[in-house]
Amino acid sequence: MKIMKIKGQERLTGTIKISGAKNSSVALLPASLLADDDVTICNVPEITDTDVLCEMLEFLGADVRRASESVVISPDKIENKIIPKELTKKLRASYYFMGALLGKKKHVEMYLPGGCSIGARPIDLHLKGFESLGATITNDGEKYIVDAKELKGAHIYLDIASVGATINIMLAAVLAKGKTIIDNAAKEPEIVNVATYLNNMGARIRGAGTSEIRIEGVQKLHGCYHEVIPDRIETGTYIIIGALVGEKFKVYNVIPEHVEALTSKLEEMGVDLEIGSDYIIVNSKDSYKPANIKTMVYPGFPTDLQQPFSVLLSKCMGTSKVEETIWENRFMHLPELEKMGMDIERSGMVATFHGPNKLEGTEVQATDLRAGAALVAAALAAEGETTIYNVEHILRGYEGIVEKLTDVGAKIKIEEI
Ligand code: UD1
Repeated sequence: MKIMKIKGQERLTGTIKISGAKNSSVALLPASLLADDDVTICNVPEITDTDVLCEMLEFLGADVRRASESVVISPDKIENKIIPKELTKKLRASYYFMGALLGKKKHVEMYLPGGCSIGARPIDLHLKGFESLGATITNDGEKYIVDAKELKGAHIYLDIASVGATINIMLAAVLAKGKTIIDNAAKEPEIVNVATYLNNMGARIRGAGTSEIRIEGVQKLHGCYHEVIPDRIETGTYIIIGALVGEKFKVYNVIPEHVEALTSKLEEMGVDLEIGSDYIIVNSKDSYKPANIKTMVYPGFPTDLQQPFSVLLSKCMGTSKVEETIWENRFMHLPELEKMGMDIERSGMVATFHGPNKLEGTEVQATDLRAGAALVAAALAAEGETTIYNVEHILRGYEGIVEKLTDVGAKIKIEEI
């Protein structure tokens, strides 16, 4: 197991470059096998989730060459094999191979995906979408078997605007016959990024980023060059850290519009932000006004920033509230933050924070990726040393987190125990 040790209350100053988006990359890599020739994806973060997906592509027979931030994939020798269970279980996004292999080979067999335990995480909407396109689905207890003689465009209404289902249906529909409409589609920037990638390959997708996506099926897709958008959740996490302990703390390579739900809330709380065209500078203050947030689909307040944001409420003078509406198990960081000195009451999916609180270093557990990010933020603001266990969760999603924070003055190290 890896642990992280952080000595808190250092003033962080300097610049952090934001990496490519994890949640785009984890869809773009599986989507690559839809092309008939080489694709190059630039700005893919070096995190364990992308490593595992590259391993899966290689298992299927793709040639994957990684040169710093670019990944070149030759998908022409892809075979339709069952990805081993141990690999599939390593992350949630392995389910994107379902849509991609179904689209390309019209048949896929896959073990259930793994990933953070932040909720039940069903995939019924993905499967209903595949069925609408003409596939039949059987489940042998451990695996899904999805088969189609041919895929035909269909009008699909999503009961929930699911990110995963929207992307997976796009992957299956780009090579289907005729026109597909995805109604009540999710509008996250990662979906637009994936649609642009597929269009660069020759797909015909319109409306990505709105709630109605229209896809005209094509017969084949060719190679292309594509760039991953900056990670808006990594951006938000570092801005929150800046608001806790930053001084002239700059994050760059960002798309400020993608983090507007966060930055407008921070401005309301009195956080000192300078928002440029591709950068944001934060200067921390000793205290902020209390705030209430409710997580929503994009462009609302992102559930993935709810956990790191909670830490900032320790600096707020009075009562703040956080309501989680997407994942029923996304409050696992709260007991850890209480151990560090925060005063929190929980009632169902609403947490009430009584601030201000003095944070103190102690031993805490990272239960999932963004809970881990919240603990890093708390540890940087806390007095004394914090030890975070199960750091593997954090390394799944934050490229070079130790190096990036060390460069701006943090006292942080990872140890293997
Ligand atoms: C993606 C992100 C994750 C983020 C989430 C919401 C990736 C790899 N992960 O997850 O970081 O927290 O979006 O912004 O991009 N649902 C169903 N049936 C389905 C699919 C989803 O009921 O078939 C429900 C889920 O249980 C959840 C809600 O819909 O309550 C949203 O899930 P979804 O948008 O699909 O999240 P993911 O794509 O898994």
